[in-house]
Amino acid sequence: MANIFASSIGKKLVMSLSGLFLMVFLVVHAGVNALLLVGREAYNEACHFMDTNPLIRVMVPVLALGFLIHIMYAVYLTWGNMKARGAERYAVSNKGQASSWAARNMFILGIIVLGVLALHLSHFWAKMQLPSFMGEHGHEDPYGLVAGLFRQTIYSVLYIVWIGALWFHLTHGFWSAFQTIGMNNNKWMIRLRWAGFIYATAVALTFIAVPVYFLLGMGE
Ligand code: HEM
Repeated sequence: MANIFASSIGKKLVMSLSGLFLMVFLVVHAGVNALLLVGREAYNEACHFMDTNPLIRVMVPVLALGFLIHIMYAVYLTWGNMKARGAERYAVSNKGQASSWAARNMFILGIIVLGVLALHLSHFWAKMQLPSFMGEHGHEDPYGLVAGLFRQTIYSVLYIVWIGALWFHLTHGFWSAFQTIGMNNNKWMIRLRWAGFIYATAVALTFIAVPVYFLLGMGE
């Protein structure tokens, strides 16, 4: 039993469950971001709720754990795959057949997501939610903080590239996660590929709408 998480299917299961959890988080995050397009008051109120609600306070460490598990197992699984393939690594190429470009580059895509995630946490989370968790006042005007950063072209472009990497990660990740938990017959595969495409595109477009909005000089 203890070994289940070290077996090949166990590792995939951990990736799948942590990935599904992170995908739910992304929907909540995108929903809050969309309020930036509504206005300063709506967004600042939502941030105040996210800073003070007891359930959110419990969920933030759970989310951090979810990320940690997903990343640790990503390294564990990718390392294991590389070792197993050894010198044969490049001998077989299944380009464009069984696996998509995204499927073959999940680790690199994940690393890009992780890199900009660290920057994003230091620019936003550390100034917005963290102070209130430490018993201090949250940011006075989260809307102003976000608008100020996204009005800088370099920051917005980097953010859009980041979301692009996340989009690729999710187009493969979505259906792969459901496949891992057993929805793997032919009928489901086609439906899941479509659902994954729609999910990833809707999430990515909602995230990208914010920098585009501020870059175009809109907003308060
Ligand atoms: C919000 C962020 C993220 C979400 C929503 C997410 C979601 C997912 C999902 C749903 C899967 C499919 C799991 C399966 O095949 O059963 C997956 C796979 C994967 N993720 Fe992520 N992920 C995120 C961030 C990351 C990060 C930061 C890394 C860091 C390296 C990463 C590395 C991987 C790798 C390597 C796989 C493929 C595992 C395999 O070979 O099956 N992901 N991800």
